[in-house]
Amino acid sequence: MEAKNTAKSAALAVGDAKLELPVKEGTIGPSVIDIGKLYGQTGMFTYDPGFTSTASCESKITYIDGDEGVLLYRGYPIEQIAEHGDFLETCYLLLYGELPTAAQKADFDFRVTRHTMVHEQMTRFFQGFRRDAHPMSVMVGSVGALSAFYHDSTDISDPQQRMIASIRMIAKMPTMAAMAYKYSIGQPFVYPKNDLDISSNFLRMCFAVPAEEYKVNPVLSRAMDRIFILHADHEQNASTSTVRLAGSSGANPFACIAAGIACLWGPAHGGANEAALKMLSEIGSVDKIPEYVRRAKDKNDPFRLMGFGHRVYKNYDPRAKIMQKTCHEVLSELGIKDDPLLDVAMELEKVALKDDYFVEKKLYPNIDFYSGITLKAMGFPTAMFTVLFALARTVGWIAQWKEMIEDPGQKIGRPRQLYTGATRRDYLPISRRR
Ligand code: SDX
Repeated sequence: MEAKNTAKSAALAVGDAKLELPVKEGTIGPSVIDIGKLYGQTGMFTYDPGFTSTASCESKITYIDGDEGVLLYRGYPIEQIAEHGDFLETCYLLLYGELPTAAQKADFDFRVTRHTMVHEQMTRFFQGFRRDAHPMSVMVGSVGALSAFYHDSTDISDPQQRMIASIRMIAKMPTMAAMAYKYSIGQPFVYPKNDLDISSNFLRMCFAVPAEEYKVNPVLSRAMDRIFILHADHEQNASTSTVRLAGSSGANPFACIAAGIACLWGPAHGGANEAALKMLSEIGSVDKIPEYVRRAKDKNDPFRLMGFGHRVYKNYDPRAKIMQKTCHEVLSELGIKDDPLLDVAMELEKVALKDDYFVEKKLYPNIDFYSGITLKAMGFPTAMFTVLFALARTVGWIAQWKEMIEDPGQKIGRPRQLYTGATRRDYLPISRRR
């Protein structure tokens, strides 16, 4: 990794103007050049459409070192949290900034557990959807609809109301996700049970039926909890940036989360886990791998290896390693010896990591590469994979939304543009148009 640039300011010559731009240093990671005054001093904007070199905010929540394959939640390595923590503890950490004491954890668990039910009228709201609607379309609609129900926690200037909205979002997403799944398979909704932990509760709401007792498999609920931990937050990714931008206008927090769900749905982002499993099924067998690797490298072929590559990680995504380990644990717990999709995934990873194209472009498996195989083995249909991602990422979206609202320097996000359209011209009556 290149040595960190320690410059304290940046000199910029723009025509005759010579600027000294301030540099702001973080605790770790790249410093930033503050260009806030650039337009005022030069009449020019910067231009960075994919924000590849642009920091949109200051944050204390999550840090990624893409070159080293490091992910820290409030400074704690993801490997340690996934190994020793649980999802609600991770939610507390992301929201409050510190690991909870035993008393704080018990109080937080109690508060979240007491908000797991949704307004009974939400069940009628689901009836409006086609049964075969993609569950992500149901989640965008139904989570947005929550903004129609909770009028007692929408004054975002009140810290109390911000926290109750946060708790409600974290508590209700598993219930809403399970409802979206049950609705899609024509089974009755299952109410949450407050004596279960959040992941066991979720599995029960998804897979229990009124006709028989449901016993949570502790290995599967531990795997589910760890999958939620891995997906909880990830700096200023596309969906988190969407939630921040929506929230910067003062919009209702539930509506902002719905905007995040919409963005996460895309196959280049959270939809990649669904796309990765479809890709592995399409490849079908190990002997087809060379043809698909060739296609992934072919500039004229839109095919890409889904679950591979990342805007920030230019090394192995640390979450993918833990995901791979969890995948093996789940498959062995379920007695699935030779899953052909896992064979294809393992061989594809081996081939790609040795191939010059992927090595040069630093394309490694990301979190979506193994999650699909695991979730399919646990009984989830492919279309539910991104819903589970959204369930887990809700705490990250909410924590980042809260941080943005509580930033004293916060203002509405309003990017500028490079205009290349028509210059001024006068209106032409239709009779004179050719
Ligand atoms: C997530 O941002 C986050 O943090 C996201 C996330 C989170 O937790 O929020 O980590 C979750 O979204 C993970 C990423 C899931 N998406 C996929 O797995 C889809 C497949 N991946 C690619 O679409 C791509 O890698 C992206 C979108 C993830 C990143 O794209 P970038 O950073 O814009 O990079 P790029 O598309 O410019 O790729 C760089 C080069 C290109 O070749 P050149 O034009 O330089 O010749 O690498 C090639 C790309 O063609 N490339 C791939 C590839 N990914 C990039 N080639 C083949 N297969 C791939 N998967």
